[in-house]
Amino acid sequence: IVGFYPTVLQTPVVRDDEQQGLDQQIVIKFSHVVAENTPKGLAAQQFAQLVKEKTHDRVKVEVYPNGVLFSEVDEIRALQQGSVQMIAPSFPNLSDLLPSWMALDLPFAFLSEEAVQEAFDGKIGQTLLDQLQTVDMKGMAFWGNGFKQMTSSKGPIIHPSDLKGQHFRTMRSKLLDAEFRMFDMRTTEMPFNQVYRNYENGTVDGGENSISNIYTKKFYQVQKYMTISNHGYLGYAVLMNRSFWQKLPRDVQQQIGEAMQETTQWANRNAVLMNEKQLEEIRRESQMQIYTLTPEERAEWMRAWDPIYAQYESAIGPELIRQIRQLQR
Ligand code: LMR
Repeated sequence: IVGFYPTVLQTPVVRDDEQQGLDQQIVIKFSHVVAENTPKGLAAQQFAQLVKEKTHDRVKVEVYPNGVLFSEVDEIRALQQGSVQMIAPSFPNLSDLLPSWMALDLPFAFLSEEAVQEAFDGKIGQTLLDQLQTVDMKGMAFWGNGFKQMTSSKGPIIHPSDLKGQHFRTMRSKLLDAEFRMFDMRTTEMPFNQVYRNYENGTVDGGENSISNIYTKKFYQVQKYMTISNHGYLGYAVLMNRSFWQKLPRDVQQQIGEAMQETTQWANRNAVLMNEKQLEEIRRESQMQIYTLTPEERAEWMRAWDPIYAQYESAIGPELIRQIRQLQR
């Protein structure tokens, strides 16, 4: 020990050009909870690549997938405290902090991919992104994943009454919890990276997720039934720590903004294609029994869930509810 420290301290600090460049490099840690081969995983990588190119290596985006740094329970606080600079949580995870975000999780809020894009790109999206400032976050974009489907190991789900007595894992949202509890069933909120294990050991019977998450986390191995219901939408708010953003040089902000715009355009198209492809993979590779709701059955679910809109109108805000209703026409 005695011999070690002086050597280090006496080492002259010689900086060649390359080292100086590295010293100035801005590092953005980007944490998320899903696999790399998913719409969000690939979008994060694409963004990192575009930022590298546009800033000529001045900014490095380090992507941490699979919740290796933080689960969705901790990542919002981690962002606010500056332990990471970027996250892309799914909408439910913002709903405690900003209840208006529950608008995007309403049952059958969006009846098509076009409606989702219209919401992201229009007034609904702008209103929600603007509200993030109040909780020290910079809303950069919306990334889509896809429509949610229901899976279960207990029994096929065709009518709302089929949920009776089942126990579902829900994402972290009072609204989503309430949506399922309407049907005489149990729900347990649970972080994403614990879902497979709890499906496997039967702690919960099933849940809802996008095809891409069901496929990449191999839920199809531990869930026997899947209903293609498209009853809700799974999407992400791409967020940056606000004070970190404000301290970035103007030109870097501009380059990052461009990278985000290009990534988002590509990512939202890619998400649709990935979910289609991965549904085919599930059909081919798994033993799952897959059932697609008929239009009449879908209408039955819509009627059953309709009271949720009135129940959550004051929490979400009547204007956002009105705009969602308008999109459904
Ligand atoms: C989930 O918790 O199931 C999803 O929100 C995970 C994700 O980020 O797609």
